Amino acid sequence: MTTTKNKNAALQISFDQYGNPFNEDYDDHFYSVSDGRDECRHVFINGNELSSRLTRSDSFTIAELGFGTGLNFLETWNFWRNIRSPNQHLSFVSFELHPLPAETISRAISSWPELEEIARQMLAFWANRCDRPGPWRIDQQTKLEVIIGDAEQKVGRWNSKADAWYLDGFSPQNNPAMWSESLMQKVCEHTNSGGTFASYTSAGWVRNNLLKAGFKVERVAGHGRKRHMSIGYKPS
Ligand SMILES: C[S@@+](CC[C@H](N)C(=O)[O-])C[C@H]1O[C@@H](n2cnc3c(N)ncnc32)[C@H](O)[C@@H]1O
Repeated sequence: MTTTKNKNAALQISFDQYGNPFNEDYDDHFYSVSDGRDECRHVFINGNELSSRLTRSDSFTIAELGFGTGLNFLETWNFWRNIRSPNQHLSFVSFELHPLPAETISRAISSWPELEEIARQMLAFWANRCDRPGPWRIDQQTKLEVIIGDAEQKVGRWNSKADAWYLDGFSPQNNPAMWSESLMQKVCEHTNSGGTFASYTSAGWVRNNLLKAGFKVERVAGHGRKRHMSIGYKPS
């Protein structure tokens, strides 16, 4: 089992024969090996009911634990640009301890040629992130900010709130710091009333931490081979 790795240490990444990135330190893949895009749609986009909520809001904030390859951001951006109206704005904020090199992200996303063009736009910012820390204006209606550092510390100091959370650490067993009671409390404190979360995991202790933090929690059908996943909301 892995606890939090050294701060900002680079992760060792390998790719399986299907092009899925894997990290040995946390002994886990970055997303579902059956279909990472489909998992993002099922777990995070549908789990947070974004098709109806995004079209109703002038301004919406999604926050994510674990930027990884940026696949969730790219899939969300792709989804959003097809449903939005001209006066709507999306802010996507992600917390990441071990930022991946641009080449690794590019290789991972090359599994989906239809995302490559928007990945190039994102990587133009990513490659220069030390000189130009975010938020980055990805297009006229979309901002992206990746906050580098340990999620618990950084979410605690974040001066904003999310309407929807993507809880996407590595597996709770191997990456317990991304699912701890104190981090879930900070996540809840940084959620607007009525805001939601979604996660691929249905681990009992994680759901319990979310409950104790103040969320209403539900277990629903998971993606692929996962029977269940978790969704929930912060009561008003
Ligand atoms: C399952 S991957 C996220 C996949 C990502 N959402 C994507 O679209 O590719 C989990 C991520 O959590 C990050 N992580 C692990 N522990 C962390 C911590 N304590 N604080 C912030 N990020 C952490 C890892 O570096 C990894 O990128």
